[in-house]
Amino acid sequence: MADLLSSCHTGRPLHSITELYRPRNAWTLRLKSAADLTCKFPLKALISRRSRPPTRQRTVYATAAPVSREIDDQAASGSKQFPVESSSKSKKVMVIGGDGYCGWATALHLSSKGYEVAIVDNLVRRLFDHQLGLSSLTPISSIHDRIRRWKSLTGKSIDLFIGDVCDFEFLAEAFISYEPNSVVHFGEQRSAPYSMIDRSRAVFTQHNNVIGTLNVLFAIKEFAEECHLVKLGTMGEYGTPNIDIEEGYITITHNGRTDTLPYPKQASSFYHLSKVHDSNNIAFTCKAWGIRATDLNQGVVYGVRTDETEMHDELCNRFDYDGVFGTALNRFCVQAAVGHPLTVYGKGGQTRGYLDIRDTVQCVELAIANPAKPGEFRVFNQFTEQFSVNDLASLVTKAGAKLGLEVQALSVPNPRVEAEEHYYNAKHTKLMELGLQPHLLSDSLLDSLLNFAVRFRDRVDTAQIMPSVSWKKIGVKPRTVAA
Ligand SMILES: NC(=O)c1ccc[n+]([C@@H]2O[C@H](COP(=O)([O-])OP(=O)(O)OC[C@H]3O[C@@H](n4cnc5c(N)ncnc54)[C@H](O)[C@@H]3O)[C@@H](O)[C@H]2O)c1
Repeated sequence: MADLLSSCHTGRPLHSITELYRPRNAWTLRLKSAADLTCKFPLKALISRRSRPPTRQRTVYATAAPVSREIDDQAASGSKQFPVESSSKSKKVMVIGGDGYCGWATALHLSSKGYEVAIVDNLVRRLFDHQLGLSSLTPISSIHDRIRRWKSLTGKSIDLFIGDVCDFEFLAEAFISYEPNSVVHFGEQRSAPYSMIDRSRAVFTQHNNVIGTLNVLFAIKEFAEECHLVKLGTMGEYGTPNIDIEEGYITITHNGRTDTLPYPKQASSFYHLSKVHDSNNIAFTCKAWGIRATDLNQGVVYGVRTDETEMHDELCNRFDYDGVFGTALNRFCVQAAVGHPLTVYGKGGQTRGYLDIRDTVQCVELAIANPAKPGEFRVFNQFTEQFSVNDLASLVTKAGAKLGLEVQALSVPNPRVEAEEHYYNAKHTKLMELGLQPHLLSDSLLDSLLNFAVRFRDRVDTAQIMPSVSWKKIGVKPRTVAA
């Protein structure tokens, strides 16, 4: 991974994305004694400490102890201490994908609320940017600098495990050494357009997401059977059915018999399909192994600031506006800020659930604080409001006018295969019942999003904005998507 990242900096061509996932230092498994086979955690016992690679090499994959200790030593004496809530004091949360957009904000939020937090991430999201020539609107610091800055500001440590959850031996070691009570799993390739670039990206997305989640399930079963899995799914799993969308399950009467069944899924990209496969695997392991899990079917997230990330520039979150990773509202705000027409795909009647990133972190905290029961596969629809693309374009146009920006919307050919006008009414009451206090998309919020985009508009690369990936033209040949 480190080699690959540096190869991007030095311009060495990447041979293939799978190069990243070949464990250079895979640990061997050795049976120490017959008793190992009958102990509570058989695989844990099978991992021979003697077979670990030398420390220097291992730190590439698991740097928790060195990073934490180093930061403890450097802790600033005048650091601000957050109140620790007694109910959560002993809770250890592993945030997989904690260097990403939702994961970073969540890791800081949980840390500020008194949870002990460890981030697990292989930094592949940063690699995608290098590969595609993209960058976040906001300058983002390295994960090490982010964690150091958090420690110096608050006195709170965040452990760090750098590695790939598709590498089970790495993940096993992270579970054994950290012993989490909850795992929040954000660590997936999360862009539908990325999964539709070419065959290799489609295969990568499904491998990365499905195998990573399977590994997390096996790690919980083997090493932390009480651990609550909070998994980020997406509202996109449901598609756009012509009936109301329920939260995970629907009660159906068919030929006189009634049952409550998983709500039908109609995913519309290889990425969304990977999430459906994840949901099925999680549901099965809850039944078969008694795992406790919450699937958060999240809507489209917007915004960049949370209480914690705005404490310092080095804590700033990423903000994607490009045609591959940018989500609709974030992209519209950047387009408005630089005088680029808002790119409405097709007719613009595509309606989805949306939420502020400040609500993402709240929802995850609520899910952790109110865990699923053993064997329960719980599904929450995680969004606060629904809008069509045309609704968003007109909200941004109005808010832009207030800031003196001339904003125009432009219909561009839809690169996706999706209904452009449809019924959409999705339930989202369960998180509200747990106490979610939504931040709604009022004009003032738009102003602050827009003001933010205006502040960084010199960093905008307008060549990144237009869609460059077509659902229909996806082919088997590896494609270089240059901005
Ligand atoms: N951003 C949204 O609008 C949105 C909407 C719905 C659902 N979600 C879901 O939320 C989760 C987080 O989304 P995000 O926007 O923060 O994405 P992101 O790409 O910003 O973050 C994902 C993080 O996971 C890491 N990662 C990916 N594969 C990994 C692996 N195999 N091992 C270790 N780390 C790995 C990446 O390096 C990255 O830091 C995703 O599962 C996504 O599907 C996001």
